[in-house]
This record gives sequence, structure tokens and C-alpha cells, in this order.
Amino acid sequence: MRKEHRAGLPRIVVTSELPGDALSLLMGRASVQVKRAKGLRSEAEVVRCLSVARGAVTLLTDPITEAVLAGCPALRVVSNVAVGLDNVDLAACARRGVVVTHTPDVLTESCADLTWALLLGAGRRVAEGDRFVRAGKYKGWRLDLLLGADFRNKILGIVGMGRIGQAVARRAAPFGFRVVYTQRTRLPQSVEAALGARFAPLDELLRTSDVVSLHCPLTAETRHLLSRQRLSMLKPSAILLNTARGPLVDEEALVEALGSGALFAAGLDVFEKEPRLAPGLKDLSNVLLLPHLGSASRETREEMARLAVRDCLAVVEGRPPRHPVGIIE
Ligand code: DGY
Repeated sequence: MRKEHRAGLPRIVVTSELPGDALSLLMGRASVQVKRAKGLRSEAEVVRCLSVARGAVTLLTDPITEAVLAGCPALRVVSNVAVGLDNVDLAACARRGVVVTHTPDVLTESCADLTWALLLGAGRRVAEGDRFVRAGKYKGWRLDLLLGADFRNKILGIVGMGRIGQAVARRAAPFGFRVVYTQRTRLPQSVEAALGARFAPLDELLRTSDVVSLHCPLTAETRHLLSRQRLSMLKPSAILLNTARGPLVDEEALVEALGSGALFAAGLDVFEKEPRLAPGLKDLSNVLLLPHLGSASRETREEMARLAVRDCLAVVEGRPPRHPVGIIE
């Protein structure tokens, strides 16, 4: 807890330190408390944190559930410093009149960049090469050392062609990829043409793509979208990328596919039970693992924090927020 309550000003609780100058936007306009967590917070801890708050600036690791809302009767707005909202029960917020906001757009390009870092890294075995050199195993150039995949004339299959999926697609042409995508609603033809992307049903995309990259939100419908059965549709030479949300993939089945050679490689920025990994995942050499770094550039994180703070302040001051969220089905 960093500051005392200042009478007359709306109470805003921020559930972690924020990068950059975001907090200064609240100076003189809100009574602000910054509450640092040692690890992940339980629902009870979130309630303790937010119990008297009118506005909350939260992280994607803070569960905002029905039980939490019940314990925070003064709460009017939850501003999540993330684009994803699977930590927030949107229906419960709607029932209780709690506005929810998030931080789209500002992180689109950095998340797409990181997806490509994973694609190139997993495809060309970059982390394996680094470990190999550091372990003193590099004894000289060899024709067959750590051979990876080429990308020219290959198919990049994008599951979820929203902002980030489209930004990933825009980076594909210079590498020589053809882009196929799937999502519930097909894009207008003009957008498909501009992206050079062809629509295909999910199962066809999985069977034909050389790289499959996930960019859809986590909902009840998309949990284990890549089930054991769907993972078995991937080509043995394919690379699976997940920079969206871990539970989109059955991680245990993925470990088996990677371990048995049924799948060439994977690049994961997110995990099913984050931050825990499925047993065996970290022992595989053909998976590149990152600690949820999609939007982790300094500029992007500072801008995300500013957006969340501005929207939180807007709602507690009775103005419309820039990025409110409705219920995601
Ligand atoms: C998000 O915003 O949802 C990402 O997972 C983190 O930036």
C-alpha cells in the first residue's frame, strides 16, 4: 500500500507497480493505492486489495470473479492492463454494473513481432543453437548441424484473424509464406485481399499449414481448441505457435506430440496452467518457451498502463472510457 486515502477523491487501487508515467495521470484526481503482490493473488487476496476501491487497475493474473465482485461493493470499473480478459467474469461485471476496460491496439505490433520471434526461433532452432554453443558442444561447422525449416512457399495458418492475427499476417509476405486463416466470421474480401490471406475451416487449416499460430481469445468455446485430436491433424513437419492464451492447447497432448516426433516444433509464450508447465515440456529440445512476453516492450507496456489508468479515471469521473468491453461469447 503506498498512499493514504484522500477524502473527497475517488479511490483507485492499482494491483501492481505500473511502468512509465501512468500513475502521474491520477495525481490530484484520485486517491490512489498501489498494492504490490508477491506472487499470484487468490480471489480472497484480490478482495482484500480492492474491497473499498471505486476503480481498479488490474493485471491479467488478478481473478475478477463473481465472488470478488461480491466482496467489492464500491467497485464501478475494472481496467485490465491487457487486451485479453479471460481473468474477468464479464457477465458478472455486467450484472453488477461494473464497467470493464482493456488495452487493445497499442500492443498489436509488439505481440506480432514476438510471434515472429517464436516462429523464426522455433523453426530455425535458435534457442537450441544458443544452448549448444554455451554448453561447449560446438566443435566446428557441420553440414547436418541443427537443421531447421525453410519458410519460402510454406503455409502460415492463423487461427483468429483479429488485430494481432492480421499484424502477424502482414509480416508473412517477405518471408515467402502463403497465409490461410480461420475464425468464426470471415473477413470482408477487400481485407482478405489486402492481407493476401485465404479463409479455410479450422480442420483444413490444421491439416495443410506448415506453421499454425493461435490468436483467438480464450472463451469456454475455445478452451482446448487444439485438443489431442486436433493436434493429431498437424503435419509432422509443422510448427505450432501460441502467443494468445495457454488453455487454447491441450498442453499434455502437445508434450506427447512434440516428444514422439508427431510435431516438429512449437513456440509457446503462454501455458495452460501459467506459470506452471505441463510435465515434460521443459525437457523437450524442440519447444521454445517464453514467459508471456508478447507485449513486453518498454513503449508498449507504458502505453498499456496509460490507457488503463485513463479509462479507469474516466469511469470514476463519470466520463465514457475509450476501450470498454462487452461480453465475449
Ligand atoms: C494481453 O494483453 O492480453 C497479453 O497477453 C499481455 O499483453
